[in-house]
Amino acid sequence: MKIVVLKETAAHEARVSLTPEVTKKLVDQGHAVFVDKDAGKSAGFVDADYTKSGATIVKDLGKELADADVVTSVVFDGVEKLKGARDNTVLISMIKPYQNDKALKDLAKKKITSLALEFIPRISRAQAMDVLSSQANLAGYKAVVDAAAEFGRAMPMMMTAAGTIPPARVLILGAGVAGLQAIATAKRMGAIVSAFDVRPAVKEQVESLGAAFVEVEAEESGDGVGGYAKEMSDDYKKRQSEKLAEVIANQDIIVTTALIPGKPAPVLVTADMVKSMKEGSIIYDLAVENGGNCELSEFGKTVTKHGVRIFGYPNVPSRIAYDASSVFARNILNLLKIMVDGDGAVVLNFDDEIIKGCCLTHDGAIVHPNFVK
Ligand code: NAI
Repeated sequence: MKIVVLKETAAHEARVSLTPEVTKKLVDQGHAVFVDKDAGKSAGFVDADYTKSGATIVKDLGKELADADVVTSVVFDGVEKLKGARDNTVLISMIKPYQNDKALKDLAKKKITSLALEFIPRISRAQAMDVLSSQANLAGYKAVVDAAAEFGRAMPMMMTAAGTIPPARVLILGAGVAGLQAIATAKRMGAIVSAFDVRPAVKEQVESLGAAFVEVEAEESGDGVGGYAKEMSDDYKKRQSEKLAEVIANQDIIVTTALIPGKPAPVLVTADMVKSMKEGSIIYDLAVENGGNCELSEFGKTVTKHGVRIFGYPNVPSRIAYDASSVFARNILNLLKIMVDGDGAVVLNFDDEIIKGCCLTHDGAIVHPNFVK
């Protein structure tokens, strides 16, 4: 199998889809890996690392694409980059079809077989291929590390000869993959951590990490389809807002991660709640790309409102690009394992729920049920 690794061109993207470590594994398995010039540079991997791992650095991308079996990238950034690829070349990438209607039409027209990594089903067998989890986990970690670095005070309690420094109080809103890692990271730093989520099952996980679970008194559960959250009723939102208003006034750092699939992120921190926080407090909004969990956060900006700094970084996993790329590449390696036959040739089994779940276009057509019209 011949694999071509593209250099990322999307805004705010520093990651690379295959690392030298994974390249070596693929080369050892008998595959040929071609890496676009400087594809890994922004993530901390130079061309010489790839060459040492057995890859060839691409001189003429169109020429290498002409007989490529698989092309990998982190984020699909236009079909023009696949110019020269033959019919049914397999693209493995995050494709974001909901945000980019044209992507699917273009990929079908160009007869690319596209596997969207963010559509890999969240089943046990696919956990090792799940880029949403591998990236969210690092985003949760990085959010707390960034927030702690920006916070003008210490995170743990310190008892010194000069007196006691109180611990920081950290609130995590949304306790999915990113939120649970944020809780664990803030706990490791010695903060007093509490967390809130609409899915009741999360309470036990939050408490097992040593954080307090903020409870909203209501009959309603936030459990939606496939383990995700659903949008809550207006009555629940009112109770939630009252409870959060109480808790937020006492926090030093808030990291928000709450998402609802296919919907804008729920607004959990209102302008009045921001106003109630102490001067110098921090809000780090990981949901900012989906509209934000804080009413005052702005995509791609750090703003100060009522003395509170609100961070709206785009693409937080990319801020820790070396490790994010490392796990992303391993996710792809695990996906490739179910895509090759004994001779190392690409064979896609469309009866496999993983392939079926993530294949968006094949044989010149849009094939994913969510997008077939
Ligand atoms: P997500 O990124 O879609 O959402 C983050 C969190 O926000 C979720 O915990 C959600 O309940 C919470 N949330 C939504 N609305 C909220 C609101 N109004 N207030 C407070 N919190 C709110 O979730 P993520 O991290 O992608 O996980 C989704 C599910 O997938 C979880 O049940 C997780 O256990 C499951 N999962 C399964 C995997 C597998 O089996 N391969 C891998 C990873 C996750």
